[in-house]
Amino acid sequence: METSAGGAAPLVLVDRREATAFVTMNRAHAANALSKGLVADLERAFAALAADVKHQPGELRAVVLTGAGDKAFCAGADLKERRAMTLDETWGFLDELNRLVNAVATFPRPVIAAINGAAFGGGLELALACDLRVAADTAEVGLTEVRLGIIPGAGGTQRLARIAGIAAAKELILTGRRIGAARALALGIVSEVVAGRALAEAATRLAGEVAAAGPLATAAAKRAIDGGAALPLADGLALEAACYEEVLASEDRNEGLAAFAEKRPPAFKGK
Ligand code: COA
Repeated sequence: METSAGGAAPLVLVDRREATAFVTMNRAHAANALSKGLVADLERAFAALAADVKHQPGELRAVVLTGAGDKAFCAGADLKERRAMTLDETWGFLDELNRLVNAVATFPRPVIAAINGAAFGGGLELALACDLRVAADTAEVGLTEVRLGIIPGAGGTQRLARIAGIAAAKELILTGRRIGAARALALGIVSEVVAGRALAEAATRLAGEVAAAGPLATAAAKRAIDGGAALPLADGLALEAACYEEVLASEDRNEGLAAFAEKRPPAFKGK
């Protein structure tokens, strides 16, 4: 397995700036395709960040996930590696990839995908597991699996349908077509499109907005939205109430009210 041990360039870069962690898939020579090594290192990186959130809930408030270089966010599963895999190994890889995608989806703080280029197959599935997506105007996205005779296997059929609706999901998945950033914006797959050189700044700005909010509040809101998406309305409302109860009992809630009364920005602590 390709690994970043032994002096090779790390497959994943993690850069902490203020309350945001920037996680970069670092295989630009292979369009940041998801090799076994990259999936394992991404999983480790998100697990380490989740542990940080647990120990210091006020510190890390947002994560930005992006790809190295200006051509690809992530070209999906590493198809060269895949060719040499047995069926059992392919199932094992898919398990690992789903573990990673679910770790991103349930990460205890909002995760923003900064789509700096091509996001195909598993690369788009990873982005769809993020809470917010911004894209460079040169980015292209697609769930192209049917063109390889397979289907999306890391949540794509479910998440794209929930994010963009069943009609758009069928259009994109059944044709395997690649669409540009403007169409992705029109379909609601990304919320903002900027020039490539402005992407890092746009993602940082979005992360800053998220980070200025109460960290327990953004975490609870994410759980309420995601948890409620597949529930009947009454159950979703009950989940919202349970999440509300958690933040109501927090110090951050009192700080929010005090800051409003004192006309100053709140200093949330994640407690
Ligand atoms: N798995 C393994 N290697 C991949 C890859 C993938 N999914 N996608 C790209 N690469 C490799 C290319 O083979 C090439 O390697 P090489 O230099 O040894 O030939 C390198 O990454 C750069 O790719 P290249 O196609 O030369 O760059 P590009 O900028 O012209 O295009 C993409 C980038 C991502 C648009 C293009 O590579 C592509 O369409 N990849 C296939 C994506 C795909 O179908 N993914 C599967 C989804 S299920």
